[in-house]
Amino acid sequence: MNSVQDSVFLKACRREPTPYTPVWLMRQAGRYQAEYRAIREKVSFLELCKTPELACEVTVHAVNQLNVDAAILFADILLILDPLGIDFHFEPGAGPKIDTPIRTTADIDRVAESIDSKDSLGYVMNAIKLIRQQLDPKGVPLIGFAGAPFTLASYAIEGAGSRDYRHTKALMFSDEGAWNVLMSKISGAIIDYLLAQIDAGVHAVQLFDSWVGALSAADYRRYVLPHVLPIFEAVRGKVPAIHFGQGNPDLLPLIKEAGGDVISVDWRLPIDEAWSRVGDDVGLQGNLDPVSILASEEAMFERTQKVLDQADNRPGHIFNLGHGILRWSEVPQVQALVRYVHEQSAR
Ligand code: CP3
Repeated sequence: MNSVQDSVFLKACRREPTPYTPVWLMRQAGRYQAEYRAIREKVSFLELCKTPELACEVTVHAVNQLNVDAAILFADILLILDPLGIDFHFEPGAGPKIDTPIRTTADIDRVAESIDSKDSLGYVMNAIKLIRQQLDPKGVPLIGFAGAPFTLASYAIEGAGSRDYRHTKALMFSDEGAWNVLMSKISGAIIDYLLAQIDAGVHAVQLFDSWVGALSAADYRRYVLPHVLPIFEAVRGKVPAIHFGQGNPDLLPLIKEAGGDVISVDWRLPIDEAWSRVGDDVGLQGNLDPVSILASEEAMFERTQKVLDQADNRPGHIFNLGHGILRWSEVPQVQALVRYVHEQSAR
């Protein structure tokens, strides 16, 4: 086995014992870093994602600056909308906007049946290769990712972020056939994209279902789970897979049922309670409230200690935030968090 396969992060994904709890942070590369902001003064966010050298630079910088145990590819869940034929852009200060939202069966028919990620998202594969060249010598694993079908569909249908997901749910509730057609197209594209990332060299993948907490457990089972299952089936046995959802703790057993070697949980449940809901046969990632980094260092350490105590050195715990790092976070406090997790979990 090479040293990357022996890394604490990949051991934890396999639920093997580790000398300390591995830690990485969702959105660990971003606007809270001066070096990131300096690059963003020169190029737009999408140009950054589409320039492998720059995507590599911000990915690797986050690892070096924070001393985290894994890198996450710098990209965005929405990039896959391009080859699906759904145009979008980022409005400064306002987030993603889809130019013509998908609302009718005619709109759904316009969405591509399948995509060729190696070609249409080739810049992502090139970034992965560059990142591997820089991180392999350090033994640091690289996580690839994709957005999950519900979260991507909700952007495509709402046209932007949403509070109530009214267009998405109205379509889902009123035309289940059309909903299933759209979700199948998205799910098939995600499979192609993740397999291409694995071929290009990622050591693990994470599926981000950031907005699925808007659903009840019954609706998740009926409208979402059937489209997520094939994604985890497709990557099973290739690399470890992390399944992230947030917002509704009642979904946890179903998110586990849909698949993943590691379930990533938010801060709404103590991690021991989350573990009792999903069972001992998966790893858990999380679950510090991201706002802890904006609080006093003392308060952050206290909350971090609580997560570590509740995880209780169980194999399969990967320390992370319950959701992405907030842009108001300060680098020294983020570094202090990583150091604290490493020191306090050493066993
Ligand atoms: O984790 C990482 O460090 C890797 C990079 C990453 C980004 N986005 C970079 C980014 C990852 C894994 C994502 C995933 C992503 N993108 C999700 C799922 C994760 C989550 O947070 O729930 C979602 C919902 C998106 C869609 C998206 N992209 C949103 C809502 C925004 C924020 C818009 C804003 O202005 O706040 C983005 C833009 C984005 N993605 C930024 C970064 C660093 C900020 C863009 C900038 O530089 O202005």
